[in-house]
Amino acid sequence: MIRIFDTTLRDGEQSPGCSMHLNEKIQMAKQLERMGVDIIEAGFAIASKGDFESISEVAKAVKDSTVASLARCLPKDIDAAYEAVRHAESPMLHVFLATSPIHMKYKLEMKEDEVYERAVESVRYARKFCSNIEFSCEDASRSELPFLYRIIEGVIDAGATTVNIPDTVGYTTPQEFEAFIRAIRENTPNIDKAVISVHCHNDLGMGVANSLSAVLAGAGQIECTVNGIGERAGNAALEEVVMALQTRKDFYQKETRIRSTEIMRSSHLLSSITGVRVQPHKAIVGINAFAHESGIHQHGMLKEKSTYEIMTPESVGLQKNMMVLGKHSGKHALRDRLADLGYEIDNAELEALFVKFKALADEKKTVYDKDIEALLIGQYSQVEDGYELVDYQTATSEGKDAKTIIQVSYQDERIERVGTGKGPIDAAFDAMAQITGEDVRLQDFSIHAVTQGKDAIGETLVKIEKDGRMYSGKGMSTDIIKSSILAYMNAINHMESRRKRGLNGNTV
Ligand code: KIV
Ligand code: ZN
Repeated sequence: MIRIFDTTLRDGEQSPGCSMHLNEKIQMAKQLERMGVDIIEAGFAIASKGDFESISEVAKAVKDSTVASLARCLPKDIDAAYEAVRHAESPMLHVFLATSPIHMKYKLEMKEDEVYERAVESVRYARKFCSNIEFSCEDASRSELPFLYRIIEGVIDAGATTVNIPDTVGYTTPQEFEAFIRAIRENTPNIDKAVISVHCHNDLGMGVANSLSAVLAGAGQIECTVNGIGERAGNAALEEVVMALQTRKDFYQKETRIRSTEIMRSSHLLSSITGVRVQPHKAIVGINAFAHESGIHQHGMLKEKSTYEIMTPESVGLQKNMMVLGKHSGKHALRDRLADLGYEIDNAELEALFVKFKALADEKKTVYDKDIEALLIGQYSQVEDGYELVDYQTATSEGKDAKTIIQVSYQDERIERVGTGKGPIDAAFDAMAQITGEDVRLQDFSIHAVTQGKDAIGETLVKIEKDGRMYSGKGMSTDIIKSSILAYMNAINHMESRRKRGLNGNTV
């Protein structure tokens, strides 16, 4: 059995544009749990108050997966990591220190012996709190093998239960990495007392291939992220690792506990939360991954699917975009449809969602599954007690500045301002800046249609920057001006809510 260690919420979240709010992280963690991920790395507790808070909420919400926090080899990091995961049913501490000559010399400015002592001491310290300890030799693939044998033996003796061999800079190749892992297995005397894990970055596009090669050499855990998000070119993609092991079980002879039918939903949830879409031809989860365009292929498929299909769309949970509900559908129908889609929601969530669903069904003739999912996911990013849109009007004419009037309610007050700009959205953002009195910079703005048709929901994502910190917001409506106003307002609300809680946004 190969253990799947998911680091979407930690290494994945480090990738530009992929930061998530607290509720979004909890939803993502629940989905990872539903998918059957063995370990969820929920964050890096010491990094920020926001990280700490989300790890501890994920630790409380998740029951069937182990929840881990990252920590450097420092007592204050390990203390924070344990404090964050201690409510988990199954907590794990993930301690790391660089072992390559280049990192030891330039980054750590430490000698091998000092690195060895610090690593062993830290694992011993972490072990006082928790019996499940992973130690990572950062930049392992560029480290000297004899030093790795020594430090791995030391940390296992000190209590590490998993030793992780990261290809931190995505430098290795499949054949080299297989031999590397085999050498570690053969030359570290106590290696059978720990699970060997691998964590491959994708700088040369070989993250998944390298991870799978390590399996051939005896690795028992793969660290990966949904949609392959992560630092720089990302991490090994969970869906590719899992489907390669499943589809080529004849070759790898290994299984995972992942429910592959949850893959598509996980991918889609992550994209909806972060606004980072996967490329259309991305393996497994790209929109074209199961589309057959050429006549010859279509002809073959009609006769016998296995001519061009090595795995079925159903096996990854790909569903047709069904038209199921309309304005006469009731709450039960909505709850049942959500359950079919795999979402369990409580009564309060259902009540709130139903109001939005009715409003949408009035605007839109047909409500698709994706629309319902978008409404639900949009709900996760809402902030209570913030600005609320009451009304807006916009006027544009050729050669003149556009005008947008916005009225909001804020703390029992009504505020209305007129904004001007190059177009109605620019004017709307000007009005919002006047209302909030916040001098923010718009860093990113995108709109995409959730489904097809001219009455499709437009989902707008906005990123604003203030004092070097980034805040994101999301808005949804069949009217793109409204969805843009809602997204901007949502970003401002997130900014205010984080400030109130003494938290900062992500650094730009
Ligand atoms: O890439 C890396 O080396 C890491 C470690 C912290 C495991 O992310
Ligand atoms: Zn990494």
